[in-house]
Amino acid sequence: MRIDIITVVPDILTSPFEVSILKRAIEKGLVEIHLHNLRDYVTDNYKQIDDYQFGGGAGMVMMIEPIDKCISGLKAERDYDEIIYMTPDGERFNQRMANSLSLKENIILLCGHYKGVDQRVRDHFITREISIGDYVLSGGELAAAVVCDSIIRLIPGVLGNETSALTDSFQDDLLAPPVYTRPAEYNGWKVPGILTSGNFPKIESWREEQSYLRTKKLRPDLLGED
Ligand code: ADE
Repeated sequence: MRIDIITVVPDILTSPFEVSILKRAIEKGLVEIHLHNLRDYVTDNYKQIDDYQFGGGAGMVMMIEPIDKCISGLKAERDYDEIIYMTPDGERFNQRMANSLSLKENIILLCGHYKGVDQRVRDHFITREISIGDYVLSGGELAAAVVCDSIIRLIPGVLGNETSALTDSFQDDLLAPPVYTRPAEYNGWKVPGILTSGNFPKIESWREEQSYLRTKKLRPDLLGED
């Protein structure tokens, strides 16, 4: 998989890919991340990427030309499955979207800033708009990092068996059950006996039940009960 990220602050997006699981996924050749600094696509000397809104109003708007140059240049080299604009007024991101994006070959993530991008970018280049939640970030970069992390860990071979994504919360619309490790007793607080019983069918049904109870308590909306 190849992910091209278009941004005005590429520095925000370096460290997430330089450590841990994402770093290893890149080293194994399972994903390529390409950062594009929008200022490199500006022709004027001031490297201007934003301008005042037509009609007046507070806040600058990202101009269409540098974004067009960047996206058109990328599209001339390969086909893209999705060109995604990260914006708080996009479709709310969830595990189902992460699953489906993890199957794509090439995607572009465009990070918004200021008041956002000129609407013509959205109308003519963008195939999908994603929000990571109902709050406003200073820019789309952190949202893009969240989306990248959640999809890269789903690419086969990125996680080992011991951390399989199949048992994550949300994979079957349920939260994950509680987990414990050694010691079996700490400060008098005991691990549920079933987990140390060695009875694996029983452990499995205990986990399923805990998943259900946890979801019912914390996220009844996932069970259609809100
Ligand atoms: N840009 C600013 N806020 C955002 C959000 N909540 N999701 C995606 N992109 C954003």
